[in-house]
Amino acid sequence: MSTSTGEGFSSSFGAIMAAAGSAVGLGNIWRFPYICGKYGGGAFLLVYICFVFLIGMILMMSEFVIGRRTGEDSVKAYPKLIPHRPGWKFVGVAGLVTCFLILAIYLVISGWTTNYFWESLTGTLAGIADGDFGLHFSEFASSALRPVIFIGLFLILTTLVIIGGVEKGIERVSKLLMPILVVLLLVLCVRSLTLDGASKGVAYLFQPDFTKLTGEGILAALGQALFSLSVGMGVMIVYGSYLPKDDNILKTSVWITVCDFAIAVLSGIAIFPAVFACGQDPTGGPGLVYQVLPMVFNSLGAVGRVFSIVFFLLLALAALTSAISLLEALTQWLSSEKVGRTASAILMSAAVVLLAVAASFSFGDGIWSGFKLGGMQLFELLDKLTGTILPPVCALMTIIFFGWFMRKEDIVDELSNHGTVKVGYFNVFYYFLVRFVAPIALLVVLISGLFN
Ligand code: TRP
Repeated sequence: MSTSTGEGFSSSFGAIMAAAGSAVGLGNIWRFPYICGKYGGGAFLLVYICFVFLIGMILMMSEFVIGRRTGEDSVKAYPKLIPHRPGWKFVGVAGLVTCFLILAIYLVISGWTTNYFWESLTGTLAGIADGDFGLHFSEFASSALRPVIFIGLFLILTTLVIIGGVEKGIERVSKLLMPILVVLLLVLCVRSLTLDGASKGVAYLFQPDFTKLTGEGILAALGQALFSLSVGMGVMIVYGSYLPKDDNILKTSVWITVCDFAIAVLSGIAIFPAVFACGQDPTGGPGLVYQVLPMVFNSLGAVGRVFSIVFFLLLALAALTSAISLLEALTQWLSSEKVGRTASAILMSAAVVLLAVAASFSFGDGIWSGFKLGGMQLFELLDKLTGTILPPVCALMTIIFFGWFMRKEDIVDELSNHGTVKVGYFNVFYYFLVRFVAPIALLVVLISGLFN
């Protein structure tokens, strides 16, 4: 194993599970269906596929190359590759700061999810009347204590896995959870597809309606592709530094990307047919999962309760392996600054939980909702920064570095495992996607995102 700390994944399979665990998260199951619903279902899906494979996957490969080549975390990797331009370190720092902010908001939503899992288990959700789910959600999310308890529980679990180590913690947990997640999701898909009236939901997801696909929708598709694949923020640089030396980076990236994409589509298949079958609104927005789905589950009677438990468990597990990757990137950086791994993990968790709790207090009618920054509540600000602005900025800088500053011979040497794997495809990628398409598309998103 190649890293400065000597940690790494034991096999390509383990690496794929861990990185797919990072990619598959709230982004796939909570965010993808509602964004897809909002921007025209099938039409959005088509654009999303292009971004995922043409830009997201290229970024993933470039992060893996940078990470494995240097064996360093994202902050040290850039200056190591071009020592005469130490300023590039800044890209790593910006990525880490973004990871910190993403993790904070991620913890809030993971806390909601864990609470909903608990309420499914204890039967609380089953006792709520259809019209009251909106109120139930806003009362819970705006309350002071309850969300914080669930944020805390979720974070403790995440931190314990990180303390366990790369191979014995992250890799082991991912190898266990990812297959469970796929099985749970398939069960939900089968149930959803066999409901009366399910075909309308399937049609909604797959029949393109281009009239609903606005310019904003195209931008949302790109942002979602980056967020969902966990690329642009250096997390995949850290995971790249853990890749086995003989791992075929192209193959691994294709697997992870296909897996992430498939799980997003399966989530759509699990959700939309059920939503249509129960006469609910598919454009329900961020509340789709917490306000619409519980109604769908309740309308299915006793079985619905089981499905509710399965669904929120699925969402919490998916969130866990993603939160793990974010905390790992932060921990790896701190622990390479001569602080031990355990201490680093605890220190980082302690710092990020403060921001998460503040964000939770500021949500909805929470106790700090009156406190505004730039006219936004803290939760809204974090959501905007981590959802629209920072990921494309970081991704843009990463791809410019990869395409225009890193030596092509180094890239080819790393991609080909020192000449043992054929990488002829890369010449085509390099001039078309890496140097031009990806940076220009990112720039366009960014500029329109800032002026919207
Ligand atoms: N990809 C995860 C999701 O879809 C979120 C995530 C995990 C992430 N690690 C990341 C996003 C790093 C950006 C950067 O939910």
